[in-house]
Amino acid sequence: MTLRKRLAIMAGFPGLVLLAVVVTGFAAYSLRFGLRGIGLDLSDETYIYTPGGTVANIAIFSHMILGAVAMVLVPFQPVAWLRRRYPWLHRIAGRVIVTASIVVALGGLAYIALRGTIAGPLMDAGFALYGALMLCCAVQALRHARAGDVARHSEWALRLAVLVMGSLIFRLHYVIWYSLTDGLWSNAQLTGPFDQVQYFAFYMPYLAALEIWLRARKAPVS
Ligand code: HEM
Repeated sequence: MTLRKRLAIMAGFPGLVLLAVVVTGFAAYSLRFGLRGIGLDLSDETYIYTPGGTVANIAIFSHMILGAVAMVLVPFQPVAWLRRRYPWLHRIAGRVIVTASIVVALGGLAYIALRGTIAGPLMDAGFALYGALMLCCAVQALRHARAGDVARHSEWALRLAVLVMGSLIFRLHYVIWYSLTDGLWSNAQLTGPFDQVQYFAFYMPYLAALEIWLRARKAPVS
């Protein structure tokens, strides 16, 4: 490894540690919330729990559990040396992520169809599109891996990774916004102007940035 590469890794290390702490923290919250919702009656604690609604509860709380699993595994998948050294681990983790993402998307979509989101139709639309895109990317990543098309597989897998992280990005946008503005244009029902932008802003700009990067990477150098 060159000195330049070593220095780059050392410079990025604090950022990676911070990312690991944030991802683990949110995944632990999501896993705990999901497990409690499956096992306990949370109607006094959260509007997300549906009293007597077995299907809606299984859909939304299992999506939290499997979302946490996908989120913890996803950051390891693009690491090249891990893939080269332990290809079997990449394959197993990949299958777990794809399966978990499909359940997460279907669970979220079922909950939206049965209950709707807290803020109504526009948030339903933003989150339903999010779920549909996750479903599509998970299926495409699996299809191209099975066909042995590594280039296309890695593109779809990267799109899926961005979407898996979207759920965390949604919360991070709120943490940053509230610390800067004390919650301007936002309210508890998530119907303020800031909230309305967020229905789409936690995944759309990041997917667009990824598309630009993927195209720039493919463009021939003149
Ligand atoms: C890795 C991915 C995901 C994780 C870890 C995750 C986790 C969570 C958690 C923890 C909550 C509880 C709310 C909170 O405490 O903030 C939640 C709510 C929700 N999630 Fe997800 N989620 C993921 C992906 C998705 C997807 C793809 C969809 C869309 C189909 C979705 C739809 C929903 C809906 C509709 C709610 C309830 C919103 C409301 O009305 O408050 N989630 N999610």
